[in-house]
Amino acid sequence: MPEPTGTAKLSFADKTLDLPIYSPTAGPDVIDITTLYRDGGVFTFDPGYTSTASCESKITFIDGDKGELLYRGYPIDQLAEKSHFLEVCYLLLYGDLPTAHALEDFEARVTNHTMVHEQMISFFKGFRRDAHPMAIITGVMGAMSAFYHDSLDINDPEQREIAAIRMIAKIPTITAMAYKYSVGQPFVYPRNDLDYASNFLRMCFAVPAEEYEVNPILSRAMDRIFTLHADHEQNASTSTVRLAGSSGANPFACIAAGIACLWGPAHGGANEAALSMLREIGSVDRIPEYIARAKDKSDPFRLMGFGHRVYKNFDPRAKVMKQSADEVLELLGIHDNPTLQVAKELEKIALEDDYFVSKKLYPNIDFYSGIILEAMGFPTAMFTPIFALSRTVGWISQWKEMLGDPTQKIGRPRQLYTGATRRDYVDVEDREG
Ligand code: SDX
Repeated sequence: MPEPTGTAKLSFADKTLDLPIYSPTAGPDVIDITTLYRDGGVFTFDPGYTSTASCESKITFIDGDKGELLYRGYPIDQLAEKSHFLEVCYLLLYGDLPTAHALEDFEARVTNHTMVHEQMISFFKGFRRDAHPMAIITGVMGAMSAFYHDSLDINDPEQREIAAIRMIAKIPTITAMAYKYSVGQPFVYPRNDLDYASNFLRMCFAVPAEEYEVNPILSRAMDRIFTLHADHEQNASTSTVRLAGSSGANPFACIAAGIACLWGPAHGGANEAALSMLREIGSVDRIPEYIARAKDKSDPFRLMGFGHRVYKNFDPRAKVMKQSADEVLELLGIHDNPTLQVAKELEKIALEDDYFVSKKLYPNIDFYSGIILEAMGFPTAMFTPIFALSRTVGWISQWKEMLGDPTQKIGRPRQLYTGATRRDYVDVEDREG
């Protein structure tokens, strides 16, 4: 922790407390309230953690007002353009861009762990064919702790390292297997002569009946999508992973918890929901009807892929994703894609509407991603699993950072209790009503 840069005075009832203030390298100062309950006998109250920093971190920083996202200080748009996903994995995990030798070694380690234990195939056969692939990868990721017993001890740095490599290496294989299972096609084994994104595409779309050539346009776009989704500060699923990890749970269980949380439509499930929404709107002339519904407080409908807790400007990832959507569809010869036309017109209309402007609601990463993934041939049910695949390295990086924090302890929030106060049991025959 840095040294305090000031003191906040908190006065209430007959108490005045001096609380240390810490200043970050970027972002708002924080007031340390760890002694508040001990010295003041009160809790803070912040459902949804809108004003709460849960930890110190050096991994990712978001400037919501500027619409800026940094991975270890490097802007996401530069990484999306100049780097590639496994290099970004190295950056997030170890803190700096790798030398050529270190990158080659890291890529070799990941490549040599892409196969899953052959017995894990039987897990897939236990699911219905129409199971949502998120249900499958949540289960299979957790089940990895039943196979890789030599990487469960979180107190052993070597076991933490091999667990990290295994999960980064195997999550594409597991995700592709979930897709193959859903379409009734045989699983395709990873190949060591392919890069990470190409391997994933081939495991998804190759069939034994013919050779499969990876389209370099699609593998570059896939790799960029992985990079854009890799990490994002203390979002809901990352906070879930940190909380699970704080109890000492094994790494596979922690990442499975993150996958489960990401599934929600307010979080990673929004990419699937956004494409379904764009399809339901169907044509530009129906956009006003949906804009009106999004503004109507009595209607639970929200524009999926719009708004963000932190970004009060454009999500920089959405900008890159929008540009990539244009490029990929053009290169694939898909002109005048109706869903993309609706998305662009919806964005234009919404950003001229005072409701969205005043609430600073902009497209987020989930608004355009589905359009690219659909063009690649993925069904909407695979959009969130691909988000989870990408975010696995972010979750692991944050989990490792938490375990390495000497001040780390089990997370255990308190509450504002407004339920019944103590009362004695009443026998059923004495109860009224
Ligand atoms: C991700 O945290 C992360 O970093 C997440 C993520 C990551 O990389 O990990 O970025 C990935 O989850 C992106 C977000 C994907 N979700 C969606 O696109 C779902 C639609 N968006 C919303 O549900 C909402 O914007 C959230 C959940 C993303 C953020 O919600 P907040 O910060 O709790 O904001 P809020 O619900 O309090 O909304 C503030 C106001 C409300 O109106 P008022 O009560 O002030 O009148 O804005 C309105 C909301 O009704 N609002 C919307 C809206 N989002 C917010 N109105 C219409 N459509 C929307 N999409």
